[in-house]
Amino acid sequence: MELKFADRMKEFEEGIFQVLNEKKNELLAQGRTVYNLSVGTPDFPPAGHIIEALVEAAKKPENYKYSLADLPELTESVINRFRKRYKVILEPEEIMSVYGSQEGITHIGLSLCDPGEGVLVPNPGYPIFAIGPSLANAELIPYDLLPENDYLPDLDGMDDEMLENVKFMIVSYPMNPICKTAPKSFYEKLIPWAKRKNIIIVHDNAYSDIVYDGREGISILSIPDAKEVCVEFYSLSKSYNYTGARMGFLVGNKEIIANFKKLRSQIDYGTFFPVQYGAIAALNGPDDMIKAQCAEYQRRRDALCGGLRSVGWDIKDSEGTMFAWGAIPEKYGTDDVAFVMELMERSGVLCTPGSSFGSLGKGHVRFALTMPVEQIQAAVKAVKESGMIE
Ligand SMILES: Cc1ncc(COP(=O)(O)O)c(C=O)c1O
Repeated sequence: MELKFADRMKEFEEGIFQVLNEKKNELLAQGRTVYNLSVGTPDFPPAGHIIEALVEAAKKPENYKYSLADLPELTESVINRFRKRYKVILEPEEIMSVYGSQEGITHIGLSLCDPGEGVLVPNPGYPIFAIGPSLANAELIPYDLLPENDYLPDLDGMDDEMLENVKFMIVSYPMNPICKTAPKSFYEKLIPWAKRKNIIIVHDNAYSDIVYDGREGISILSIPDAKEVCVEFYSLSKSYNYTGARMGFLVGNKEIIANFKKLRSQIDYGTFFPVQYGAIAALNGPDDMIKAQCAEYQRRRDALCGGLRSVGWDIKDSEGTMFAWGAIPEKYGTDDVAFVMELMERSGVLCTPGSSFGSLGKGHVRFALTMPVEQIQAAVKAVKESGMIE
């Protein structure tokens, strides 16, 4: 039998990542040192009280049933967290868990859009922002994030023709991959604009706890009227290093939440109870670990961005996220993929080609701040010694 798969699968060829991975393995097999600054998985562990809560719950046989719904204590913990951290008051109907924001962003378009309806997605942007809506057969309408607009969407430049068919817009700051934050004034303009244009805002807020130089990480729901038009993804992956446990939340407009719950009740039977208990411990736990971790990311950012600048590569300081972003040196043109391959071969430093985040990422690279300062310093030295930067 000849197997014929869906055409959409052609969009998911592994392509460059497979090639980079093979190259990395080849270097390792040769005994070379590889500085893997490509993948955005935190290298920090979750706090002890989080692991303990999960392990204790995992010892109890009754916790192996389908959970079907979020525990009331979990919902209460999200309410407490948002009140304490963002000064946002949530009601239980305004909260649902997801298997990490990634899963939520993958599926939310299915609950919001009919095929052919438009979704505004950032360019450059985190890949699932485009992949999710395209799985719902929505029409992707990229909006450009440009230096002249301080990497914010140009709302005034979007005319009615462009917005005619738009159902929702994905917005995300602090922004992966470009490492920019948005001022409060941007959100204060966005919400009334979205209300006027009848466009739902889906805000992905994975990095509000990783912001630098005294900036404030906020929830979009702290902006007046946000709940009328907006939902926000909140993740435990980066603030609490609960990454592999797959736990995040969608919070905000209760009709959007109820509608999305209906869809997800067809897909899953709830989150494993021990994972819920670990999340409860995380959300009710102290904040000092989160702050200390942010300070450590900032030291890594300084080592990477400052270090690369000191060897002649102008990488601007990230404002937030666990990444750094910059244009490749001019002499390499815009072929970020060829540059990443050559950089890995000559220095052992592995980063992510910017073009994997959209057309405006071309000619750029993203580094993940997932190694201790000393190793980042060694990576910077390796870049210098490769002779690729002058
Ligand atoms: C912007 C952004 N959103 C969502 C995710 C996925 O997060 P989660 O682990 O909650 O699925 C990531 C992971 O790197 C991310 O960078």
